[in-house]
Amino acid sequence: MAFNIGLLGLGTVGTGAVQLLLDKSGRHPLLQELVIRRVGVRSLNKTRAVSLPLQVLTTDLEAIVSDPEVDIVVEVLGGLEPARSLILKAINHGKHIVTANKAVIALYGDEIFTAANQARVYVLLEAAVGGGIPVIQPLKQSLGVNRIQAVTGIVNGTTNFILTAMHAADRAFNDVLADAQRLGYAEADPTADVDGLDAADKIAILASLAFGGRIKLPEVYREGIRQVSQADIAYARKLNFVIKLLAIARQEQTYPSNQLQVRVHPTLVPQSHPLASVNGVYNAILIEGEPIGQVMFFGPGAGAGATASAVVSDILNIVADLKTRAQASATNVTAHPLLTCSHQDYCRVAPMADLVTRFYARFLTQDHPGVIGKLGTCFGSHGVSLESVVQTGIQGDLAEIVVVTHDVREGDFRSSLNEISTLEAVDSIPSVLRVL
Ligand code: HSE
Repeated sequence: MAFNIGLLGLGTVGTGAVQLLLDKSGRHPLLQELVIRRVGVRSLNKTRAVSLPLQVLTTDLEAIVSDPEVDIVVEVLGGLEPARSLILKAINHGKHIVTANKAVIALYGDEIFTAANQARVYVLLEAAVGGGIPVIQPLKQSLGVNRIQAVTGIVNGTTNFILTAMHAADRAFNDVLADAQRLGYAEADPTADVDGLDAADKIAILASLAFGGRIKLPEVYREGIRQVSQADIAYARKLNFVIKLLAIARQEQTYPSNQLQVRVHPTLVPQSHPLASVNGVYNAILIEGEPIGQVMFFGPGAGAGATASAVVSDILNIVADLKTRAQASATNVTAHPLLTCSHQDYCRVAPMADLVTRFYARFLTQDHPGVIGKLGTCFGSHGVSLESVVQTGIQGDLAEIVVVTHDVREGDFRSSLNEISTLEAVDSIPSVLRVL
């Protein structure tokens, strides 16, 4: 049998996918049945890393999603529009979708999956989270029987590269970012990565799969890494932590009505934690569930080959199902329940004030007798218990005091900080970070 692919976009991921689709030897035999029918590009005149017959290329993306011969539309354009509209049009024309586009799924997943379920077509998105790392299908299938308690990931390679370099070479964020841009690891406009938007999209998708409900993207709490300073990195090291941008979705037994935490922020991770040694552009996702315990997925979170591996494997999953249906001459069959996303309801996301976690905070204070005592009194009156207090640095004539708390409700911790910031002896609170 032959299954026709319509590819939207021939950038890094699209090119990687075409290379894989054309280089079939030694790979899964189902690849032999895939045909690249159309590839939508912005310009027909550009020099390409892959050679495709001229009649395959088109600038008319609408024609691809409505082409009666196309079975599967692969959307690797990125961005919200025209990706969203083209995906919806393709679904309305009965096409199955494979996408690497986390932004469009995180924001418009509701609309896209509702349309797909009505049209009985698949929307697969393994490449949208963790690049080449299999994590979407494992959540749907291999781990499907588990009660998931937490998903904790390093899901953005750019920020992990920057933080790793800051740790390794004691360098400032802006310096390392400039290097990362020169090396092509960071975009000219790094906002989506360094401000945590990319990680927020990804954890919204993972949380939805892990906890069986849709997530409203604006409810995902998000802090980026711009404010992480060399001083914080140095203190973290002294206290046996590393700072990582973590994306976390967790269901606490103590929360009412199955509320979830869904959050992205720089976090002090104990050096002994499995995520602490995930460095450079690599990604890793730690999943905790019952009865599995802990399982961690590690690998390349971006790059042409890695992402294409996920895209083409999604295509194979769809083709395997289409072929089975065709061989059974089945009519009116429903989609394979372990490949679809059929959530109807939204998860309830808990307010950050209710989060219970440890905190790290750095204070600049006057170097007077009794200042640490005053801090301790404020913390104590808000029920904040301290795990450690360090005073080693001096900045000008100000003392630098670093505290790590025991687990505390975020709302209570914030109230204590508000009170502390009014103390005469306290100059400023340059950093507040959560601790894993
Ligand atoms: N910009 C992303 C990252 C890769 O830095 O990990 C694509 O998801």
